Amino acid sequence: MSTTSTPLTPNLNSFIRKNFSAEDDFLRQLLLEAKELNIPEISIAPEQTGFLQVLLRAVNARNVLEIGSLAGYSAISMARALPPDGTLYACELDPRFCDFIRNKAEQANLANVIKVVEGPALITYPATRKLFTEPLDVVFIDADKLNYTRYLEMVLPDLRKGGLVIADNALAWGLVADENPISEPQNVIALRTFNERLSSHPELQATLVPLGDGMAIGVKL
Ligand SMILES: C[S@@+](CC[C@H](N)C(=O)[O-])C[C@H]1O[C@@H](n2cnc3c(N)ncnc32)[C@H](O)[C@@H]1O
Repeated sequence: MSTTSTPLTPNLNSFIRKNFSAEDDFLRQLLLEAKELNIPEISIAPEQTGFLQVLLRAVNARNVLEIGSLAGYSAISMARALPPDGTLYACELDPRFCDFIRNKAEQANLANVIKVVEGPALITYPATRKLFTEPLDVVFIDADKLNYTRYLEMVLPDLRKGGLVIADNALAWGLVADENPISEPQNVIALRTFNERLSSHPELQATLVPLGDGMAIGVKL
């Protein structure tokens, strides 16, 4: 029993990464190729891949929406936890990144699962939601931080009861609790506002898990 949390030291984080990551040679190679093409190195951490897969399997996810897909590292990680007839909509702004994801999905034998949606998610979503044949089981938000709260309100009507909304960077690079953050103040304030909305939303029960840069998770009531 303990009434305080154990601080997540680098040593403990390495232990979690070593034992609970779902990263394999394919995903490592994906990151290398993305780096060679100057795609930013801002994918989720390896220990978050395993965590996302556990969450998807826990809710028997079949239909997932990701907002912010970059090179497809998190999209492929999640798609691997879906049944073969599942769908993962990968919303990504940058057409160059979208081409990269399509290629990688093909190589991973996931071209039938991963549907890349190109363009700004707030604009593409009304057409994307018309493709849904069932409500969403999971939404993973990992795009522009200023719009996180808008994304939450946008997707909630399409999430089934018991479904999850998961957001990365909930700790805002460690600055979320700082009143006067030393960098990216607008993004930090947006992430704080998002956390507050998620935690007090009448349709959700939420928590924040300090893995990677923090994963906020809300289950729809
Ligand atoms: C942190 S990266 C996503 C990382 C990815 N989830 C992973 O872990 O592999 C954020 C991505 O969001 C994309 N993005 C930014 N604004 C967006 C928008 N309005 N709509 C869709 N994607 C956006 C960026 O182009 C970038 O690729």
